[in-house]
Amino acid sequence: MDPQTLENEAKSAIAGAKTLAELDEARVKYLGRKSELKQALREVRDAESGRVLNTLREALEQAVSERESALGASELEQRLVEEYADVTLPGEATPRGHLHLITQIRREVEDVFIGLGYQVVDGDEVEDTWHLFDALNMPQGHVTRSPLHTLFLNGDVVLRTETSPSQIRVMEAHEPPVFIISLGRTYRRDTVDATHSPLFHQVEGLAVDKDITLADLKGTLLHLARALFGEDRRVRFMTDFFPFTEPSLGAAISCFLCEGAGCSVCKETGWIEMGGSGLVDPNVLRNVGYDPEQVSGFAFGLGLERIAMLRHGIPDIRMFWENDLRFLRQF
Ligand code: DAH
Repeated sequence: MDPQTLENEAKSAIAGAKTLAELDEARVKYLGRKSELKQALREVRDAESGRVLNTLREALEQAVSERESALGASELEQRLVEEYADVTLPGEATPRGHLHLITQIRREVEDVFIGLGYQVVDGDEVEDTWHLFDALNMPQGHVTRSPLHTLFLNGDVVLRTETSPSQIRVMEAHEPPVFIISLGRTYRRDTVDATHSPLFHQVEGLAVDKDITLADLKGTLLHLARALFGEDRRVRFMTDFFPFTEPSLGAAISCFLCEGAGCSVCKETGWIEMGGSGLVDPNVLRNVGYDPEQVSGFAFGLGLERIAMLRHGIPDIRMFWENDLRFLRQF
């Protein structure tokens, strides 16, 4: 092929390439190692035809590189159009849950006591009768030892009816001083109604050291009441009875709704019962190998559902466990 024809043919192939791949084919065909042009260049014997062929090679190389940038630009253009993504569009929202109200209260109570230097310990929901009853100073005929009140799994294995056995386990494992709270599920053989559920939650508190007094208990519960229900709360005690405390006290807080004037939340008394408490009974201290002559302690137990119901005006304990999102999302 004479150089002019070759040039025309090659240039129209280069100009006709519609993609970078087609252009590459044309480049291989007309400028590659086995191309007619490269073949001819290898066989050149005189200066004149060498000059002609080299000029042709340069012209073709030039044409390829121009076509290459043109094609590259338009391919980029096309990709920009086709693969266009508006990064400013709002993304698809991933539905996200949140903590159950009881878990929120649980963590709030934990924070309050961690702030006081207490340790948070886990108890077992499945207990034995030593830790749930005997060590807590409950005599054989005590009413919660009845299978009518307590869910027995078998023999002396029971679902705990209160978080109090955590006290025993901690004291059995550690020498005083002990400052712990323990929170979790408790079970009772109760019929479900607005204020009873066979499964509910408690927080147990225990402080044992030299010279612990009722004043320490009162100050601690006052601190908790204020953290949960507001800085203006007051706490009062009324005598009560629990086998594991002596004396035993029911703790009540001044009503946060009516400020003591009397309303439906406090049943017109101005006071709301918080839970049970007292000084740890010397028998309990002895049961875990502590010496009641050397150390004393206080303990308390409160229901977490009750805290939530009071604080948020929730009328029915069943609402916590019905999984109705219209309810749960409010907290
Ligand atoms: N365990 C008691 C209950 O479930 C609450 C309680 C009362 C816990 C007095 C205590 C306490 O630690 O000292 O009703």
